[in-house]
Formats: sequence, structure tokens, C-alpha cells
Amino acid sequence: MNNKKRSRFAIISLGILTMLTSFSAYSEQPLVIAHRGASGYLPEHTIAAKAMAYAMGADYIEQDVVMTKDDHLVVLHDHYLDEVTDVQSKFAERKRSDGRYYVIDFTLAEIRTLDVSERYFVKAGEKKPVFPERFPLNQARFKVHTLAEEIELIQGLNKSTGKDVGVYTEVKSPSFHLQQGKDLSLEVLKVLQTYGYTGKQDKAYFQSFEIEDLKRVAEKLLPSLKMDMKLIQLMGDESYYDEITTKSGIKNLAQYVDGIGPSIGMIVDNHSTAEQLEFSDLVQNAHEHGLLVHPYTFRKERMAMPAYATSYEDLLDIFINQVKVDGVFTDFTDLTVEFIHSNNTTQ
Ligand code: G3P
Ligand code: CA
Repeated sequence: MNNKKRSRFAIISLGILTMLTSFSAYSEQPLVIAHRGASGYLPEHTIAAKAMAYAMGADYIEQDVVMTKDDHLVVLHDHYLDEVTDVQSKFAERKRSDGRYYVIDFTLAEIRTLDVSERYFVKAGEKKPVFPERFPLNQARFKVHTLAEEIELIQGLNKSTGKDVGVYTEVKSPSFHLQQGKDLSLEVLKVLQTYGYTGKQDKAYFQSFEIEDLKRVAEKLLPSLKMDMKLIQLMGDESYYDEITTKSGIKNLAQYVDGIGPSIGMIVDNHSTAEQLEFSDLVQNAHEHGLLVHPYTFRKERMAMPAYATSYEDLLDIFINQVKVDGVFTDFTDLTVEFIHSNNTTQ
């Protein structure tokens, strides 16, 4: 992080922080958003991982969505297939010059022939799991599914359990898709509409990292479809987001989105120590403008947790009880639900 970014952070005592952020956008318990499903336990974005997250008590289940060659919407984190499937062994010759296998180059029927695994990287020609303690790499069979299939699972479980778990859908690389002649955001909205998500009161969020495309969703696509939707502007530490994370940028965002989804490092400086946490003013600014704050990603593995957090529960305590965020994207729905219940966390 450069000095300009570091200057966003200030050492704020807990007392002052509590005063600054003592309200959240909604006075409810923080939402537990199952990040790619119960991905701490089963391969991300598989139907099994979604069913497990549902059973663990998630409030919302996340879908990242990309489009196939024949215009089907599939639930995958990347517009590439090569980090979670066996595409290399089944379609070796179909990689592009950059060595990647693009979802958009494959039909849904072709993609359905692939097996999905835990996320991996290749080292010395061998697949290595990104998270070695999670589900084994070459065990059991998992498949890619469509957005509609996942919504049908969630809505089916809502019927059979009597619960009302929501969908939290992200369009991945919409500008890339537009360049390829495919309007990903429009097609995702149409599917959400088909399944009854048509207003802000419905249990659905629409999220995107792309600023211009999300604005297009708010100002053009939703009105053209005569629907509305809770919108979340995702953001990271890249300079692309510098303007929208200023005070005036947040004020402007609040004109057309319902909340923001920052990385946790944008809220608590990763250089913090357990004894001295450094907070940015992002949550305070967002809450002052009525925006929800749903940071990502809460993981329990030491390698994926900031050094200042002494445990997963400590990380949750910092963000839920001290910063008072409105929801968290987590790979560990069970631990997060348990933490919230045992703390009886209300905001
Ligand atoms: O969408 C919130 C969070 O999922 C953002 O990170 O890269 O996992 O989609 P990513
Ligand atoms: Ca996501």
C-alpha cells in the first residue's frame, strides 16, 4: 500500500470509533453472506457448497456469474476455467495464446463435461490446492451449474424449510463480456426478474466491481426492465477506486447504490497490530450517507487472515462489534452464525 493509501487510515481509539460508527445503515443483526457457498468446506460455487451454506444458516448465498459461448449464465468466480476445473486435460487445445481457457469459448454442454475441484495453482506441472486444509483436490465429483439452477435450489430449500434465504449475485467482468457482444448484467437481471426478484424489498442483492457498468445497471437497465434491486458497489485497494472512496465519491455513490462491498483491508489497515488497530473513515462515511457496508472476505485460515487478528472470532469481533459493519462475506458461514448468536449481536 502506498503512502497516499496509508493516509486514509488513522489511529482511532475504540471510544472514538464507537462514537463515529455507532449506527449502521439498518439496525439489524449483520448479514451472513456465504461467500461462494460454504467454500471453507466444499469446492467454491458447487451446488453442494451452496446447500451446505444454506443448512449452516446463511442469510444470503453468493453467486459470481459469467457467460458461456452459447449465452448461458454459469456460476463461476472467473471468466476462466483453469483454476477450478480439469479443462486442461479435457480440452487441451482450446486455450488462448495467454494460456487461459475462457468460459466464453465453451458451450454450456462442454462446460458440463468438466469436473470442478477445490481452487488450485500449478507448480512444477503439479496441481497444488490454494487452501491445503480444505476439501481434498481429487475427491468426489462436482459440476458447474447455471444461475437459474442455483436460484431454484435456494428457492426450493426456502419452500421446504420455511426460511427465506436470499441471493447475492455478482456479475464478473461485465465490460469484458460487453466487448465480446454479451450483456452479462442485462441477462443476469432478466434471470433475477424471472425468479421474482423485482424490487428492493426482495431478498436479492446485485453486486459489481465495475463502477461504470453498475451505474448503467442503476440508470438504464433496471428502469428499462421496470424493476429495482438492491445494488452493492464492490471495491478494492486499486487506484481505480480512489475517487469513489473519497467523501464526495461516497456521497455520489449513495445516489444510486444501496451499499458498498470493500475489502477488509480498506477498513482496518493490514499494518495494524492487535494492540493498535488503524481504521479508515470509509465505514463512517458510508453510514453517514445511509449506505450498507458488506466487507469481504472473512476466512479462518491463518494465511488468509490479517496478522492483527488473533483468531477468526477476534476478526469478527473487530468488524462486527467494533466497526459495526452491516454484513460479512465469509467462507465460514457456520462459525460466523455461531459468533453472532453467541454474542447476540444487534446494531
Ligand atoms: O463479491 C464480494 C466478494 O466475493 C468479492 O471478492 O473476488 O471473491 O468475488 P471475490
Ligand atoms: Ca464475489
